[in-house]
Amino acid sequence: MSIVDICLRESLSRAPVMVLPRGVSPNLALDQRLSRRIAAGERVVHLGLGESRLPVHPALVDRLATAAEAHSYGPVAGGESVLRAGAGYFGRRRLPTAPDQIVIAPGSKAALFALIAALPGDVVLPQPCWVSYAAQTLFAGRRVIGVPVPADCGGVPDPSLLRERITEARRRGEDPRIVILTVPDNPTGTTAAPETVRRVCAVAEAEGLVVLSDEIYRDIRHDPAVPYLSAAEVLPARTVVVTGLSKNLALGGWRIGVARFPPGAWGHDLRAKVLAVGSEVWSTVAAPMQEVAAYAFSEPPEIVEHLEASARLHGTVAAAVHRAVVAAGARCNPPQGGFYVYPDFEPVRAVLAAKGIVDAAGLQSYLLDRWGIGVLGGHHFGDEPGGLRFRAATSQLYGLTADEQWASLRSADPTGLPHVAGQLARLREAFTALTRGAE
Ligand SMILES: Cc1ncc(COP(=O)(O)O)c(C=O)c1O
Repeated sequence: MSIVDICLRESLSRAPVMVLPRGVSPNLALDQRLSRRIAAGERVVHLGLGESRLPVHPALVDRLATAAEAHSYGPVAGGESVLRAGAGYFGRRRLPTAPDQIVIAPGSKAALFALIAALPGDVVLPQPCWVSYAAQTLFAGRRVIGVPVPADCGGVPDPSLLRERITEARRRGEDPRIVILTVPDNPTGTTAAPETVRRVCAVAEAEGLVVLSDEIYRDIRHDPAVPYLSAAEVLPARTVVVTGLSKNLALGGWRIGVARFPPGAWGHDLRAKVLAVGSEVWSTVAAPMQEVAAYAFSEPPEIVEHLEASARLHGTVAAAVHRAVVAAGARCNPPQGGFYVYPDFEPVRAVLAAKGIVDAAGLQSYLLDRWGIGVLGGHHFGDEPGGLRFRAATSQLYGLTADEQWASLRSADPTGLPHVAGQLARLREAFTALTRGAE
């Protein structure tokens, strides 16, 4: 177990430690290890990194190429056209927005850190949650208050526990003032229902918490007919929405994120504080990337179609992996957005224990060492280290080459394509063998 895991777990379990994480974030570290093994010719099924393995849409490449000569520093918040496009993007999602409510950042990760740094107080996190929230909180010198997620979804603290956990934290001398929601969620791949979002927001409002709503997977929900509610619709004056182009358009390496601040004086003041952080840390988002972002956030038809096809593919492949883990005896909420499944092998604990697997780290190591399957144990997400849960990033199954990935995207039956079917068969074999007794 790395120092990062220990710090995050201790922080989430509220031990009075303020040790800063050291070392690369666990998902990136695992990716580097697995990529080296794949490059060396090993047969590894890499489900370890939350990256959409899809090619860049050619229209985005064109924009970038056309903008390559834009090389000056620009405004910290972003240039006018990208701010207008960002405002339009949110406006089409029932969040009327003026350009001066927007800030563009080099990735939503940077925007989130700037927000935590600019806001006062300690941070309430759903447990489990995306790896970086707790690390960022610690780097900002704040404490983490972990609250378990409800049984039917991740990404939000269980609303029936939230108030009591906030009260307990205050009794311990902590100062919870921020709650982060991830809808849809990484690591669980689920989307909190509107009623759950409403209940969490009601507690946040009563307790005076600011909501940071991470909606980076919103555009790749698997079934667009399922109702979606942003916390910003419920608590418009106290919610900042953060999103980006890393997941929906597979542009993680281009580093484009955006934050939408509440209308009114408080939101304006917070935006100014975030810009102060941005001005000292990243200055401005790379000018050619702002051109890309302005185009993407204006949502021309070819980009909308590309997003719809991506969401269908993510849904189909995540559902296939979900069937595989459930068939092997795991419990798992059905994936609804993004590209993750988060199975719980508790129902087969005795079988796993007979193989020496008693916790999440052991499960992660076993799958990699015995089957060449790379997943990230639940402990990396602040989940109980003794649990038998892991996150599988199913978007890694679309193929290794751009040709294979385009074929996956265009296929009416991607799980039937040989390069996808072969990996799914390997997963089914491994999960079945894992839970079957002696191998
Ligand atoms: C929930 C969540 N938020 C934010 C990010 C960071 O994305 P970006 O590439 O925009 O920094 C990720 C990436 O894994 C994520 O899963």
